[in-house]
Amino acid sequence: MIEIDALVKRFSHRDKDNKVIWKTAVDGLSLSVKEGEIFGLLGPNGAGKTTTIRVLTMQTVPTEGRVLYDGKEIFLHEREMKEFIGVVPQHVNFDQDLTVGENLELHARLHHMGSAERKRRIAELLHYVDLSEVVNDGVRQLSGGMKRRLLIVRALMHSPRILFLDEPTVALDPQVRRRIWDLIRQMARSGVTVFLTTHYIEEAEALCDRVAIMNRGKLVSEGEPLELCQRLGTYAVEWDEDGRREYRFFKRRDASAAFVAGLASEGKIQVRRTNLEDVFIELTGRKEGL
Ligand SMILES: Nc1ncnc2c1ncn2[C@@H]1O[C@H](COP(=O)(O)OP(=O)(O)OP(=O)(O)O)[C@@H](O)[C@H]1O
Ligand SMILES: [Mg+2]
Repeated sequence: MIEIDALVKRFSHRDKDNKVIWKTAVDGLSLSVKEGEIFGLLGPNGAGKTTTIRVLTMQTVPTEGRVLYDGKEIFLHEREMKEFIGVVPQHVNFDQDLTVGENLELHARLHHMGSAERKRRIAELLHYVDLSEVVNDGVRQLSGGMKRRLLIVRALMHSPRILFLDEPTVALDPQVRRRIWDLIRQMARSGVTVFLTTHYIEEAEALCDRVAIMNRGKLVSEGEPLELCQRLGTYAVEWDEDGRREYRFFKRRDASAAFVAGLASEGKIQVRRTNLEDVFIELTGRKEGL
């Protein structure tokens, strides 16, 4: 469904001596995502996630490389491909002076939907996310969680085949976050391919069929969350040493037990299952001074 082939995005700016400085935000990224899959792109700040999403949603052109949806190069079929995708931006960007219904109407008109279809789709989707009662309310009056759900509804109005979400649950309470996860899962079950970025490792673990971890513009690992944990080692040992928490990973339980037996840590030693956060930190490097 999505093929990303050797994608490169460089930005240039001038320094104080007017010299052109190039910055590579995405550095030879290749990935593929299957139809109906929930795919998560993870990475530390500045890794290149948003730049990747901006290219995939045709908001910026790549410096090199190609992106194909259903075998079609997106920038060669831009109008068609914009109908093919729905985009949930990181920041709420409704017209604050319009009502909920009017905002959705506006989006539907931009996508050339007929009047009957617009009405039907607005009613259906608002019902789906429990927002039918606020259809005539101003967007301003909605809570943060309602606005996030409405962003997803807006992105789904024209029935896209791929839904892109940049940090879909940032700053939401756990209840709202879970409802949004349910909504994303339902979309995927109905055949929509979902591509999201997130800073919340537990979100990726709970939601994504596959994840890719990127660092400094490059792909560092890709696979099912469980598979990535197994690659690092299923068993994690944590202990305190010189005022720091240390970690080691083992493929076999008996190896982790033998290691623990030989440890001379004064603090608490914990043996547990490796999680995606361990994988993330091991692959993207621990930052000194944190
Ligand atoms: N328009 C731009 N001009 C110049 N540099 C840019 C531009 N957009 C992004 N960058 C740089 O590209 C790199 C990747 O940025 P990007 O926003 O894609 O990272 P990210 O993974 O989304 O980070 P975060 O987790 O903080 O959102 C950063 O070093 C950033 O400073
Ligand atoms: Mg970002």
